[in-house]
Amino acid sequence: MTMRMLEGKKGIILGVANKRSIAWAIAKASSDAGATLAFTYQGEKIKEKVEELVKTLPGTSPVYPCDVTSDDDLARLQENLRQDLGSVDFLVHSIAFADRKDLEGIFLDTSRKGYLLAQDVSSYSLTALSRMVAPLMSQGGSIITLTYLGSERAVKNYNVMGVAKAALEASVRYLAVDLGARQIRVNAVSAGPVNTLAARGISGFTEILDHVAHKAPLQRNVEIEEVANASVFLLSPLSSGITGEVIYVDCGYNIVGI
Ligand SMILES: NC(=O)c1ccc[n+]([C@@H]2O[C@H](COP(=O)([O-])OP(=O)(O)OC[C@H]3O[C@@H](n4cnc5c(N)ncnc54)[C@H](O)[C@@H]3O)[C@@H](O)[C@H]2O)c1
Repeated sequence: MTMRMLEGKKGIILGVANKRSIAWAIAKASSDAGATLAFTYQGEKIKEKVEELVKTLPGTSPVYPCDVTSDDDLARLQENLRQDLGSVDFLVHSIAFADRKDLEGIFLDTSRKGYLLAQDVSSYSLTALSRMVAPLMSQGGSIITLTYLGSERAVKNYNVMGVAKAALEASVRYLAVDLGARQIRVNAVSAGPVNTLAARGISGFTEILDHVAHKAPLQRNVEIEEVANASVFLLSPLSSGITGEVIYVDCGYNIVGI
């Protein structure tokens, strides 16, 4: 990506765990497109990794702690962003989590605790983060989240995460309506399968990759850079008329019947 589609824009990116994270691919593409970035990490274990990665970008980017299940962390993040960036033009939500045991076997066996955990981290967090960042988007803005086809089709082993993604996509539509008058857009990128830490937690993930490579119209799996480029488009003024949408970046897999 060579176009400076995000020149002069300031963004906050949540969800970098390592160099394979979709959030990191979006960070690199946004930085190439001219954006100034801030990052968060969840837990001390990955703090160093995120700080090391961020150092490879041009300029300096602040890195803040944020567990999205903590209202205190979200309030502190808002304060930090206000102090360090002043205003924010975009937010990238690239976060999901469910207990490993809920990503295998059958959905019927999902516990109340496992269900609520998946919803809290993977779905409710978008609403909480949108409420946190909206007051900083005084000139309008763009919020994106990452979702997956398991929200509308029953994908083997995706189970509780599919239900969380369905709630996430519905949240995108409600948030788009609530924030539209402030010229804040909210959209989701529905990515095809990409080999990341979170994806490897889904039982039988490599079978999904093989299946998609055979069935997708483009006869291959999506590249992480393609997911990142579509994300930059949604974060940029080129998509100024688009809100409340789920955009598939999956080599066309979602359109195929038999
Ligand atoms: N990899 C895929 O095949 C694929 C496909 C479609 C959508 N997605 C979605 O993309 C997003 C990013 O996942 P990824 O594949 O890059 O994996 P990843 O493991 O690199 O990223 C997941 C991120 O969620 C963060 N996270 C988990 N719990 C958190 C919490 N309580 N507070 C703050 N952060 C928390 C982790 O720290 C990590 O950075 C997820 O929403 C995922 O569902 C992934």
